[in-house]
Amino acid sequence: MSVNVKQLAAEKAVEYVEDGMKVGLGTGSTAYWAIRKLGERVQQGLKITAVATSRASEEQARELGIPLVAFGDIDSLDLTIDGADELDSRLQLIKGGGGALLREKIVAVNSTRMIVVADESKAVETLGKFPLPVEIIPFAWEWTLAQLNKLGCSAALRRSGDDLYKTDNGNYIADCRFDTITSAPELALSLQSIPGVVEHGLFIGIADMAIIGKNDGSIEIVEGENHL
Ligand code: A5P
Repeated sequence: MSVNVKQLAAEKAVEYVEDGMKVGLGTGSTAYWAIRKLGERVQQGLKITAVATSRASEEQARELGIPLVAFGDIDSLDLTIDGADELDSRLQLIKGGGGALLREKIVAVNSTRMIVVADESKAVETLGKFPLPVEIIPFAWEWTLAQLNKLGCSAALRRSGDDLYKTDNGNYIADCRFDTITSAPELALSLQSIPGVVEHGLFIGIADMAIIGKNDGSIEIVEGENHL
């Protein structure tokens, strides 16, 4: 029987959730397993409140009976568990493959701790093979895309079938193919300076810990510089 490595990592992360915590629920196929496990623990009596980072995660949590609150109803969160598209040994991440990067970042930076859950294919030496998702506003998207291309990537608007993909916030996603991102902090600054860019999928200095599920059934835990 093959191991579900995403489930392995996600369920390990849920062990860090304690009674009374305010928990950020990530988005994607790995976060899915964390939410599922959390639902199980809530049904067994765990008392938490949660904030979801996407409509999909909100729906899943609601079905499982996880008590949800709006982001505006809380001051901060204790722990967020979320996936990543790529992570390096310094716990710099690329996120947004599922299109939820803006809410994911808002929730993560407002959490005392963020645990990234991933299978080993996501761990890379240098970020950039995965096209970097950048959320941009629809107005003047052509111009914004041109500015992104000037940063040395090939940027393309994400599509959903015949239509352009729209985020939960009504924006577009530009997927930016860099191949290699030599300095994520420098690139982050450049991206932030482009009007029209709402947020980008580089998460730097945000994750405290990564739990990586391996194909042999083991788990690797990587602690970042800002680990408590
Ligand atoms: C969602 O917008 C993303 O940031 C996801 O967390 C990321 O794409 C990882 O997703 P998977 O766990 O499905 O690979």
